[in-house]
Amino acid sequence: MTKVAIITGAAQGIGEAAAKRLHQDGFKVAILDFNLEGAEKVAQAVDGIAVKVDVSDREDVYRAVGEVVDQLGSIDVMVNNAGVAPGGPLMAMREDDVNKSFAVNAGGVLWGIQAAADQFIKQGKGGKIINASSQAGIVGNQGIGLYGATKFAVRGLTQTAAQELAEHKIAVNAYAPGSAVTPMLKASAHEIAQEAGQDDQWALDQFAQGVTMGRLAEPEDIAKVIAFLASDDANYITGQTIVVDGGTIF
Ligand code: NAI
Repeated sequence: MTKVAIITGAAQGIGEAAAKRLHQDGFKVAILDFNLEGAEKVAQAVDGIAVKVDVSDREDVYRAVGEVVDQLGSIDVMVNNAGVAPGGPLMAMREDDVNKSFAVNAGGVLWGIQAAADQFIKQGKGGKIINASSQAGIVGNQGIGLYGATKFAVRGLTQTAAQELAEHKIAVNAYAPGSAVTPMLKASAHEIAQEAGQDDQWALDQFAQGVTMGRLAEPEDIAKVIAFLASDDANYITGQTIVVDGGTIF
């Protein structure tokens, strides 16, 4: 039977690449995003479905997952990929930055874990949950400290959910990308370039410094790891965060 994967934040960037890769691997893919128009375009490209969601709203996440189940019958994989990236030094962060970034990046992952796990438990066959952390969630990085804190939180949620859900045969893992060239990274590069009076390419080159492989990631580099974690080849892996950063030296 065709397996079903939900990917949040899949209207662009890493989520879009993951949708394309999982489609190639034989999954039926549900594209969940705040941006319905973008989600519909990707859904068309992968013969999948698009559902609008705000991952920071628990009820909305349950509704969206329910819609996927109504349309596709069941789910096998949940990729909690949607995220936002507040930039700037910690001293510049205010309540809005904290509330929004934690609500989307950590809250969104928790609601995704809950909605998927409830459905997996109902189905009784287990399942796989895959969460977006970041290299910034492995070590502190000046300039993106608040974002990093939300991504440290994702690793904590991943480890604990893996322990709490193992009895239901649910595996929970995370991926931690280095800098991948997506609309999110390009927007950060643009901001940094503006501040430094440089062009965007200069800022992208700064991101690539310290990467052993000497280049930024393409979204497809991250999608391959998501596909591995979604596959049967990863059946004995849980509670882990896989770093995909081209060997970054800190
Ligand atoms: P992106 O900004 O290009 O795409 C994110 C998608 O999430 C967008 O389609 C957006 O509409 C959606 N989204 C945002 N808030 C949402 C919400 N509340 N509800 C539903 N959808 C929402 O981001 P990118 O670069 O593709 O990143 C994907 C994930 O990977 C994020 O969690 C990000 O933090 C993480 N990541 C990305 C890195 C990079 O260098 N691009 C590095 C490390 C982690």
